[in-house]
Amino acid sequence: MSDVKLGVNLDHIATLRQARMISNPDPIEAARVALTSGADMIVMHIRGDRRHMQEEDLERMRKEVRCFIHLEMAANDEMRNIALKHKPDSVCIVPEKPGELTTEGGLNLKDKSMVKEVEKTIKTLSDKGIEVSLFLDPNADDIRTGYKIGADTVELCTKAYSESWGKKNQAKELERLQLASYLVKELNMNLHSGHGLDYYNVRPVAQIEGMECLNIGFSIISRAVFVGLKTAVSQMKEIIG
Ligand code: PXP
Repeated sequence: MSDVKLGVNLDHIATLRQARMISNPDPIEAARVALTSGADMIVMHIRGDRRHMQEEDLERMRKEVRCFIHLEMAANDEMRNIALKHKPDSVCIVPEKPGELTTEGGLNLKDKSMVKEVEKTIKTLSDKGIEVSLFLDPNADDIRTGYKIGADTVELCTKAYSESWGKKNQAKELERLQLASYLVKELNMNLHSGHGLDYYNVRPVAQIEGMECLNIGFSIISRAVFVGLKTAVSQMKEIIG
């Protein structure tokens, strides 16, 4: 059995539904399939522009499915209130930029106003028993700042590594993740990773010492189009194991 947990991000089930603005495909139904196929938790991102998951999806997921819910969200009042209302089990704070296709990287913790919002979010949500992680690029300064402001979990952004797959800088990007992981563990924080991970590039990340959880969406939902969600999730779980 694998020690690495698999968080299955269902945003793109909701993307497809929003293309017609009807009720199908339903992320709740997808969650049930994912959970019986090897997913350890359900991941959903409520974005400012609501282009895929809606607040109602989180509300229904909480009421209708018994599972660990991991919510990705920006650090602002609107999202803090949503988290406080629906009580996901954990939250990952991510940066959001208007017009971006997907999250473009980790939080910029050199930006003082961002650090203030992130710190406020950590405190507000963890006081209510919600676990909070920070989505960070694999660099030591951000990880140390995250530690100082009270984060107990870091989700390392694997975007650069994923994009380096098959290119000259692949080994260097993996090494950056390994070194960052080492620092996260040395600071006694929990270690998660995600972004752009697929059936080919995921194994070296899953094998990093101390890796506890991988959050994966796009590649699983893309494969599900051809093989079905059940097979797509169970194949991913098998690879990371
Ligand atoms: N982790 C975080 C923090 C993310 O923002 C995303 C994208 O929503 C993911 C993981 C999953 O990325 P992907 O869909 O590329 O697997």
